[in-house]
Amino acid sequence: MNWIKVCSKQDLKENEILSIDLDGRELMLILQNDTIYVLDRICTHMDADLSMGFLAEGQITCPLHLSSFRLEDGVALNPPAEKPLRRYNVKIDGDDIYVQVG
Ligand code: FES
Repeated sequence: MNWIKVCSKQDLKENEILSIDLDGRELMLILQNDTIYVLDRICTHMDADLSMGFLAEGQITCPLHLSSFRLEDGVALNPPAEKPLRRYNVKIDGDDIYVQVG
C-alpha cells in the first residue's frame, strides 16, 4: 500500500467535493467538519459521477437514482445501490494530503 500526495490542504473547502484521478481510480475528496473523506466517486449502482451529486451531513446522494452513501465508510444507505463505495485512508503531513492506494 502506497501513500500518494494528492493535493494541499488549501485545495479543500468545507462541504465541497474535489475530484481526482489517481492510479486509474476516480476518487473524490470531501472536507466536512474538519474530517477529510476519500471515496470512489463512481456510484456502485450504474456508474454515475457522485461528484455531481448532493452532499449533506455525513453522506452523499447519487444524482441519478438518489442512493445515498455514508462518508465515513462508504456504506449504501438506501436502494437501488447495494454495494458500498470504496473508502481510502488519508493522512495529512504539513500542508500535504496523502491517500493510501494499492
Ligand atoms: S447510478 Fe447511483 S443510484 Fe443509480
